[in-house]
Amino acid sequence: MSELKEILTKDGSFTLRSLFFQENFHSLEGALKETEIKFINPSNLKRFKDKSLNVLDICFGLGYNSASLFNNLIKQNSFINWYALEIDKKPLKYSLGNKSFQQLWHPKVLKIFKALSKNSQYKDQFFECNILWGDARERINNIPTNIKFDLIYLDGFSPQKCPQVWSVEFLGKVTQKLNPQGYLITYSCSAAIRKTLKDFGLNIFNIKPNLVSKNLWSNGTIAVKIIDEKVLQSNLYFKKLSSMEEEHLLTKASIPYRDASLSSNPKDIIRKRVQEQLLSNLKTSKNWRDKWGMTK
Ligand SMILES: C[S@@+](CC[C@H](N)C(=O)[O-])C[C@H]1O[C@@H](n2cnc3c(N)ncnc32)[C@H](O)[C@@H]1O
Repeated sequence: MSELKEILTKDGSFTLRSLFFQENFHSLEGALKETEIKFINPSNLKRFKDKSLNVLDICFGLGYNSASLFNNLIKQNSFINWYALEIDKKPLKYSLGNKSFQQLWHPKVLKIFKALSKNSQYKDQFFECNILWGDARERINNIPTNIKFDLIYLDGFSPQKCPQVWSVEFLGKVTQKLNPQGYLITYSCSAAIRKTLKDFGLNIFNIKPNLVSKNLWSNGTIAVKIIDEKVLQSNLYFKKLSSMEEEHLLTKASIPYRDASLSSNPKDIIRKRVQEQLLSNLKTSKNWRDKWGMTK
């Protein structure tokens, strides 16, 4: 599954390309930049200064999201109970062998990563970390049911390439693990993913892009079960969905990925969705794009 090729991104940080999934782990604009903009900034980590939090990192990969998370938490004496799900051990091994990756972080981050690679766990006074290797669809069942997460990062390959981590059934399991006021954060602004989360009763927000243009209207999605208006106003990165985005959820693009057995192969998940789209009376997303003047 894991033929990987090293890639240098525009901000000088490295990422990998999976030849199996035919996709890069990060945008070519910058692996580090993407982590900060799409995951760390919207997490608003300052609210956990001197406090404890539970975090779940789904599709850990090279570990940029968690390395940056740990780097911030180390500086502010937070106590973290952390779980990660990842199918492939090679990306973490690659991070640990890459000088420029190592230079980005506090030495303690690397100490934790080394322990995760060797023993799948790490523990000290402030940090309790467990990485569960294997298919996230199965391994999520090994997280103790009493743990609810304040932050869940969902960073799988795109739904078209890796639909198994975006299905209704998997996202159902994920949202059960979210604290009532916890944030589920993903880079994806896919209508299918947003609609699935909305149908579970979550409030959906856009992660505000730095520069808004017709084709760059989102940096991703934050889903929250219960949202406090004050939090909404104080978090610069939350933005209510625009009419354009709400309408996206009424098109065929919003038809979800289904994986009833939680063990289907990706081709079957995609094929079933295409069939469902063909039979649906919803508007096409081309219709929607034309209406809002999008070129792609
Ligand atoms: C886009 S990359 C993740 C990038 C990562 N968050 C980082 O900071 O480097 C997607 C990751 O999902 C993993 N993956 C793919 N299918 C999976 C599955 N079924 N269960 C768990 N991990 C999976 C891949 O091995 C890959 O490391």
